[in-house]
Amino acid sequence: MTTAEEFLQNDPSYHRLKDKVVGSTGMAFYRDRDDILCDVVMRRLLATGLRDCDAYLELLETEGGSDELDILIAELTIGETYFFRHHAQFEALEQKIIPDILRRNESIRQINVWSAGCSTGPEAYSVAILLKERFGKQLADWNIHIHGTDINRKFLALARTGRFGPWSFRAVPEEIRERWFNQVGDEWEISREIKSMVRFYPHNLVTDPPPKPENGFDLILCRNVIIYFDRATAEALVARLHESLADGGWLAMGHSEPNLALFRKFHTLSLPGAIIYRKEAGYAPPALPARTAAPPSPPPSRTRAVKTVPPKKPARQSARSALTAQKDVPPPRIPAPRPAPHLVLELAEKGDWDAAEAACDAMLRANPLDGRAYYYRALLLEQAGRFAESETALRRSVFLDRRSPLPHYQLALLLLHRQDVNGAQRSFRNALSLADRREADTPLPELPDLTAGQLREMAAQYLQRLKG
Ligand SMILES: C[S@@+](CC[C@H](N)C(=O)[O-])C[C@H]1O[C@@H](n2cnc3c(N)ncnc32)[C@H](O)[C@@H]1O
Repeated sequence: MTTAEEFLQNDPSYHRLKDKVVGSTGMAFYRDRDDILCDVVMRRLLATGLRDCDAYLELLETEGGSDELDILIAELTIGETYFFRHHAQFEALEQKIIPDILRRNESIRQINVWSAGCSTGPEAYSVAILLKERFGKQLADWNIHIHGTDINRKFLALARTGRFGPWSFRAVPEEIRERWFNQVGDEWEISREIKSMVRFYPHNLVTDPPPKPENGFDLILCRNVIIYFDRATAEALVARLHESLADGGWLAMGHSEPNLALFRKFHTLSLPGAIIYRKEAGYAPPALPARTAAPPSPPPSRTRAVKTVPPKKPARQSARSALTAQKDVPPPRIPAPRPAPHLVLELAEKGDWDAAEAACDAMLRANPLDGRAYYYRALLLEQAGRFAESETALRRSVFLDRRSPLPHYQLALLLLHRQDVNGAQRSFRNALSLADRREADTPLPELPDLTAGQLREMAAQYLQRLKG
């Protein structure tokens, strides 16, 4: 325990202050990171000359309190970002998403993009560069509006300067940097042309109503933001992002946030190395099955796993699932030529959860020791909000496919969701070391769009953040 932690844990108002921080930023991450939070709060107590959290809370509630809240938030937010972060997503934007927006908006000749949680700006500027670089001629007479928003005003001030150090260019080909930036001392300043395409302004994704351009956003990027939020906050945010999109608009989340459950309202598209979500007019998300409390499951053991029959399905609302839930009724026939694992994925991505579950059951009937099937089952259970059962399925998958990194990674996400940071760190470390044993460009058997190298990077990023 740090000295600040020891001091503040004895302060009766510390937890009230913590609730205020989490409530006003969404960063549930700090619920069990008292080590970091106490250091920051202690610094602010010293800087403001206040004696305890009660006095500090009072300051936050006064008229000038919002300035102090901004300072506190600036100390707590983590703004790691760089240009063209996650190359595969920018490939998907270039190959699929921007051409689609150009086709759809041909008549209005306008594009609205929102980089939500933009930090110091590279994400928003990268989209601007991509539009100019690859679609400049076509877009010559179009109105392009790129909004960059963040809760941290210091980040926004940096974004507006348009100046960046060399580390921000670690994923940028040199010719792009040469074309769109001018060197100023040790830094690079973005060209006026690109700068004028982006407008940066403060916005809190948890408490503020989202900006709503007249025709809705064509593309929202909200990458590496919700990893700090709890489930309920993330769900509410995803619903608001859905509302802010135009029909047919696209949502890009961080590539370490693949969580089909959160994005049920969207049509999910798996593109090479990237998952992107689309709002589709008339797309009806499948009804969620009723949440059932699962009895605690025994830890998996090999003998148990051999004897395991696939867990019984809970009663579901749709007629189709009611049918397939009956033992003597065969599940939907699986077309022979397609490998079953990929069929489960395809069905899940279409949001056809019942059929995906039936396909998963079929895999387990064929081989009750199929770790991959347990992995898919875990994803399906998670989307239904049945986290305890999902965890059991993941632990089985981990046990059965000992050398596979992805189940460890998914388990880490689940543990993080229920605030078990130590457990999550252990599982991220397992995922990382198992991914390390594979060639970086080897596709992972459970999600062939993802390579071992990408998973390694994702696990490393989480570990880095959890280290604080
Ligand atoms: C890790 S950065 C991600 C930057 C960029 N999207 C990317 O992926 O490179 C996360 C950003 O989310 C912002 N953020 C955190 N909570 C927020 C909130 N409630 N509203 C708006 N922005 C928030 C932080 O200030 C930070 O700049």
